[in-house]
Amino acid sequence: TIVVMDFGGQYTQLIARCVREAGVYAEIVSYNASPDTLKEKNLKGLILSGGPDSVYAPDAKKLNPQFLDLDVPVLGICYGMQILVNDLGGTIIEAPVPEFGPTDIHFQSHPLFDSMKDMSIWMNHRDMAGRLPESAISIAFTNHCPTAAFADDKRKVYGVQFHPEVMHQEENMKIFYNFCYRICGCTGDWDMSSLAERMIAEIKKQVGDKKVLCALSGGVDSSVAAVLVHKAVGNQLYCVFVDHGLLRENEAKEVMDYYHAKLGMNIKLVDAQERFLSKLAGVVEPEQKRKIIGEEFIRVFEEEALKVNDTEFLVQGTIYPDVVESGQGNSAVIKSHHNVGGLPSNISFKGLVEPLRTLFKDEVRALGEYLGIPKKLVWRQPFPGPGLAIRIMGAITPEKLEIVRKTDAILREEVATAGLDRKIWQYFTVMTGVQTVGVMGDGRTYDYVVAIRAVTSDDAMTVEFAEIPYDLLRKMSRRMVNEVPGCSRVVYDVTSKPPATIEWE
Ligand code: XMP
Repeated sequence: TIVVMDFGGQYTQLIARCVREAGVYAEIVSYNASPDTLKEKNLKGLILSGGPDSVYAPDAKKLNPQFLDLDVPVLGICYGMQILVNDLGGTIIEAPVPEFGPTDIHFQSHPLFDSMKDMSIWMNHRDMAGRLPESAISIAFTNHCPTAAFADDKRKVYGVQFHPEVMHQEENMKIFYNFCYRICGCTGDWDMSSLAERMIAEIKKQVGDKKVLCALSGGVDSSVAAVLVHKAVGNQLYCVFVDHGLLRENEAKEVMDYYHAKLGMNIKLVDAQERFLSKLAGVVEPEQKRKIIGEEFIRVFEEEALKVNDTEFLVQGTIYPDVVESGQGNSAVIKSHHNVGGLPSNISFKGLVEPLRTLFKDEVRALGEYLGIPKKLVWRQPFPGPGLAIRIMGAITPEKLEIVRKTDAILREEVATAGLDRKIWQYFTVMTGVQTVGVMGDGRTYDYVVAIRAVTSDDAMTVEFAEIPYDLLRKMSRRMVNEVPGCSRVVYDVTSKPPATIEWE
């Protein structure tokens, strides 16, 4: 394991991802973790992340000196490098010219830069190394930074002022290969087959012969988690899939076809459409809709859970970013159930099975593909727990549901046919609830406006509207108006987030 110590940098997760991409398992721990916790991890090396502090600031995050006595190589990145220089007896000074963004660098010959040529790297610093610790030497420089990297080969301590994890490209990646393999002596056993094998063995050990319950949402995280648990303990796993009547066209059938018919899993489809829709009747306010759906979901899940006697474990599709963001090792914190609400409070589980706790989203997808889950499920776009309810403005009626469902199916079909489904982060239609005048045949119509929302993004925090070609928009609009009764006009949402959000409610 390579442990990445988080000093509050923006790119800490990227560092761990780069190490894993180099084929070595990486974990993130907080800078103030206890050195003892690292002892069981088969530790091969430490990487100190960047961070917003200046080493001389009174409340600067400090490195516990015991981490330097663990007898493994240490690499500091940006602030991480400055901490090392400072703690080993050097000095940090304010850079005469701060460097931000792509910067040309010259490397000296050193194993850390093995087979690397001078290139442009990503800088982001105001401070820099002044005097180096006694046994350290500078091994890279830029026009304004004489020590853009240092090495103390005797102590096996290294630092780079730049961010090799940021301009994520082949040349940069070599630093991670060199550090892991040449300096730390890692063997590179992080691949999907050994990972799956290890996870399945762990689940078997944890669960034993007990029963496990899982609420499947059809989303990629819960799917991969459920398939792993099924591979580990077979029919000790009981899955519940709630159809709240707000799913997309064919969704329930696709989920059942795969899990039940194809994999032979114990999965129960609970048809709760009536229940949800009657609770939602006449409700207009978006947060109110979410609340009703969240609560009802828990009720339904509770009822179903009680029907399977003596379940001791609950499967959760928690992934690494959730764990990191909620604070390290918080296994007791239960993520709200696929964001729909909370979890049943009157059923107690002995434990949670969270096989994906250490994986990033792209790793979950790679694992899903390795496990043979259809690409369609693995690469499916995010779909909100409250489903189509928040894509219908105003009160939900069967007519409006039908319009949003049918137009959404056309949109998805056309995007897939055009080969754009992996290029667009999320795409769907919105039933605006607005009626406008139109003319069809020889008659006047007064029907609904449907909006197309399609966005590109990396993380859903900020998005741009996707530039769908006009031809394709035209085709979609024609089909929607011709094939979906009640839809007489189609508009395209060209707003970014912020200031808008992805969903309309
Ligand atoms: P917004 O609309 O906030 O959406 O830009 C960001 C991402 O979150 C999804 N989303 C939700 N997911 N429950 C969910 O499980 C919700 O209530 C919810 N609201 C938004 C949205 O689809 C997008 O991917």
